[in-house]
Amino acid sequence: MNNPTDILVENPKPGVRLVRLNRPAALNALRGRLLEELAAALTEAGEDDAVRVVVLTGNDRAFAAGADIKEMADRTVAEVLGMDRRAACWLAYRRFPKPMIAAVNGFALGGGCELAMCADIIVAGEGARFGQPEVNLGLIPGAGGTQRLTRAVGKAMAMKMVLTGETIDARAALAAGLIAEIAPPELALDRALELAELIAAKAPIAVRLAKEAVLKAAEMPLEAALDHERKLFALLFATEDRREGVAAFIEKRKPSFVGR
Ligand code: HXC
Repeated sequence: MNNPTDILVENPKPGVRLVRLNRPAALNALRGRLLEELAAALTEAGEDDAVRVVVLTGNDRAFAAGADIKEMADRTVAEVLGMDRRAACWLAYRRFPKPMIAAVNGFALGGGCELAMCADIIVAGEGARFGQPEVNLGLIPGAGGTQRLTRAVGKAMAMKMVLTGETIDARAALAAGLIAEIAPPELALDRALELAELIAAKAPIAVRLAKEAVLKAAEMPLEAALDHERKLFALLFATEDRREGVAAFIEKRKPSFVGR
């Protein structure tokens, strides 16, 4: 990746890659450049065996306030329909194979809420606000907001958010099942990194297949998904890490996983 400007990439703990969205003056509005840099960073993190978990965050004021409205202003139908690059970026986020945790403070609106929902776990600071306000612009959510949100919070809450454009706070988001935890704002990132560190210490192949299996809950009919789960479960019996995990339990010691 050539000198990203719209994101900052760090390695704060072993196995954990931290990506910060970095357009504070625009509340991290998701312009094309940011989307590309984020997709490149995730592709790189996905291919790097040393990275086990990615934490995605913004700043105190905003995780991301949505697509860059100014960049979007003059776009035509043909341009939006033909926006292969952007669609490819969103595909890279939602197909990211390793666990991704979003630490959200401030606004997560429109594409920002949709990006947070690409994460597997969302930790929000008190004061975070989630919403799909596209209807205020004469639009609808375009990166999963009508689908992922509905699967996360159910039809009633999703309809209310998508049709009114009203935001919900972190408490409502927790009650609705959109986020996993609330933390004091200054601790949301620390908590996300703590969860990441816990996951990074587990057997990598098991973690990867666990993510895949849970995502299938929203994608496959139940019988097929249960069958798929059973096969992934059986597959793990072929790994060195499964042998190590079981042996460590029996020998009353900590397992040492190698990712094979
Ligand atoms: C471009 C944005 C922006 C955005 C904020 N800014 N959101 N620029 N695109 N989405 C800029 C403002 O223009 C302003 O720049 C600066 O960030 C600070 O924002 P303010 O509005 O002054 O802050 P505040 O009064 O605190 O209000 C915060 C806010 C508001 C409530 C979040 O900014 C807002 O409503 N933003 C738009 C949210 C939205 O509609 N998102 C959905 C976008 S559509 P200047 O230069 O004036 O200081 C979408 C579709 C996704 O996301 C499709 C995916 C494929």
